[in-house]
Amino acid sequence: MTEATRGQLRADLATMSRLAETSVELILRLQDPSGAYPASPTFSAYTGYSWFRDGAFIADGMSAAGAVDSASRFFDWCAGILHDRKATIGEIVARAAAGDPVPDTAMLPTRFTFAGTDGDDDWWDFQLDGYGTWLWAVAEHAERHALDLARWQQAIDLTVDYLLSSWQRPCFDWWEENADRVHVSTLGCIAAGLAAVAHRVDADRGLAIETVLAAIRHTIADRGTTDGHLAKWLGSTEVDASLLSTVAPLAVFPATEGLGAATVRAVDAALAVNRGVHRYAADTFFGGGQWPLLSCFLGLAYAAGGDRESALDQLSWAASTVDVAGNLPEQVAWDLLDRSRQQEWIDRWGPVARPLLWSHAMFIRLAVEVDVLKVLSS
Ligand code: BGC
Repeated sequence: MTEATRGQLRADLATMSRLAETSVELILRLQDPSGAYPASPTFSAYTGYSWFRDGAFIADGMSAAGAVDSASRFFDWCAGILHDRKATIGEIVARAAAGDPVPDTAMLPTRFTFAGTDGDDDWWDFQLDGYGTWLWAVAEHAERHALDLARWQQAIDLTVDYLLSSWQRPCFDWWEENADRVHVSTLGCIAAGLAAVAHRVDADRGLAIETVLAAIRHTIADRGTTDGHLAKWLGSTEVDASLLSTVAPLAVFPATEGLGAATVRAVDAALAVNRGVHRYAADTFFGGGQWPLLSCFLGLAYAAGGDRESALDQLSWAASTVDVAGNLPEQVAWDLLDRSRQQEWIDRWGPVARPLLWSHAMFIRLAVEVDVLKVLSS
């Protein structure tokens, strides 16, 4: 490496480190007093709502950065929502056990208002992944900071019962699409969550978790792979970048071998263009751009496989999507999969969401992983 290259790298590291710090500040500033993390404060279709999926990853990023109280307050918010729906969950579990499952519309939604209500707007609401991801994130948080999980135990038990009863149901995916499919990344999020709490629940639940984890693994091995790597949904021959999460940070599949390693290679080959990662090949949302948060997931997968240099490259690409105000977008339009479909979304919802808190959180999470952000003392 020449002196000039080394100097350039130092400058980039300083820029990235600063962006990670301001990202923590931005999330702290925008966190609602209820503990909810807004998906995006200004984007028309998201304002006023917090998602279990986005929020769990945001809390994980904040926890990893040392913002312990912020993450705990988000988990308190999740717990409140679950406590309030104890009777609903009881009904869902009982009806599933009786072989008469409730309709999709009666399942728990994917997003809530900051006050913890379901909200009045129509949405593609039945998504199971966020319930797995919150379990995983709260357990990681407690482990990382030696916190007592008892504070969230009742909500954990309710979530476990909900997922055990319904894990095999088709539902909308991470992108709120394809409700008639069982998505492999959704199964991965559920497996990660259940595994993370398996030893923190009573013996009956613990045993039931072991059985369901084995069933999920069997289902994925049987119908959730294609060409030696994970598939977008059971029976699909496509990949989806959400699958990266099952390698890192969820660690359901190891980054260094087998399905995990093959999936990282397949997603990189099919969906990354100059390090910017698309959601899936047929994406047309806002024309189907590249998502900085997914570039960070790819970076986390590289880091988990011991390839810090590639992980840093991913972080640097994500940093390049920031605007002058320091905000990271949901996606950039530099390499659109279908330009003809961009304008219809702008007409419908306005310009792409920015800032998207999930993008900032994944940037933070990867920056911590590759040591670009020093963990803050809270
Ligand atoms: C994405 C979801 C995300 C939501 C809020 C949607 O466009 O498809 O994954 O949870 O935005 O950020």
